[in-house]
Amino acid sequence: MTTDMRRTALAMVAKGKGILAADESTGTIEKRFKSINVESTEPNRRAYRDMLFTAKGLEHHVSGVILYDETIRQSSHDGVPFAKLLASKGIIPGIKVDAGAKDLALCPGEKVTEGLDGLAKRCAEYVKLGAKFAKWRAVITIGRDMPTTTCIAGNAHALARYAAICQAAGLVPIVEPEVLMDGDHTIERCEEVTEWTLNAVYQALYINRVTLEETVLKPSMVISGKDCAKQAGVAEVAERTVRILKRCVPAAVAGIAFLSGGQSDETATEHLNAMNKAYAGELPWNLTFSYGRALQHPSLTTWKGAAANVAAAQAALLHRAHMNGLATKGQYKRELERQAA
Ligand code: 13P
Repeated sequence: MTTDMRRTALAMVAKGKGILAADESTGTIEKRFKSINVESTEPNRRAYRDMLFTAKGLEHHVSGVILYDETIRQSSHDGVPFAKLLASKGIIPGIKVDAGAKDLALCPGEKVTEGLDGLAKRCAEYVKLGAKFAKWRAVITIGRDMPTTTCIAGNAHALARYAAICQAAGLVPIVEPEVLMDGDHTIERCEEVTEWTLNAVYQALYINRVTLEETVLKPSMVISGKDCAKQAGVAEVAERTVRILKRCVPAAVAGIAFLSGGQSDETATEHLNAMNKAYAGELPWNLTFSYGRALQHPSLTTWKGAAANVAAAQAALLHRAHMNGLATKGQYKRELERQAA
């Protein structure tokens, strides 16, 4: 049976398109604004999101946008609520519903994501505000004696409880277990931890009665730790990532949309492209992007808070969305970057 949630989930991962993660919390957007010397005030945050969402033609390569609580209550410069504006362009509005990754008690250095209390009520309100899907990010840290079983199990449980609550409210849950790339660990260690994490997450989703057909997975890629002396190449990242997804993610899942996690803009595009090129027609799900930094970075640094830069910043966003759109079909080439420049 094709339900509304199934239709939404499939539309989120449609070929040629991906998701724009614009759900930075107030603390995170403050950090991003600091890098361009812009004060993080409500009007500035609104103006920045306005620039992103009003980019003409965004819908050609963006299927959905993840909003933050403040953003879903804000409106465009001509007074149209952002969720309504996006929907009118054929872009599906979504909402971050987690309350952030907090210190995990008795497990120094590890985090667990909070936000389950009162979630059903908040989901009902977000549905009224126009959201069709939700996001919850769990964070797994690799380090000495980390991750612990405590961290994996606690985060998997919270993700599954969140997903069940969303589906009960009619929202498609994006299930996001992020294995951080911070650290000097090898790609082999990242692969092992990603496999462990995904297995725990799918077991928890099963126990919590979540309908996998109405979910989208947002995983990190299997990559070398940022400070690892040996950095795996693009083909190796693609091979190891797809191998683990095949092992751990049931075919029933509607689709997979990767986070960028601190990879450079073009590297994130290349990795996605390599997977779609090497494994075309071989996988039960579409592989696409749900990038925050890797989509917004050129746009943010072009914008710099000035109205005069809006058109150029929008062009930078549309270019990255286009490149990543091509990567969902394995049609991206580095030369296309130079042509644009
Ligand atoms: P990045 O692509 O910047 O990792 O952000 C994606 C996201 O939504 C993290 O939760």
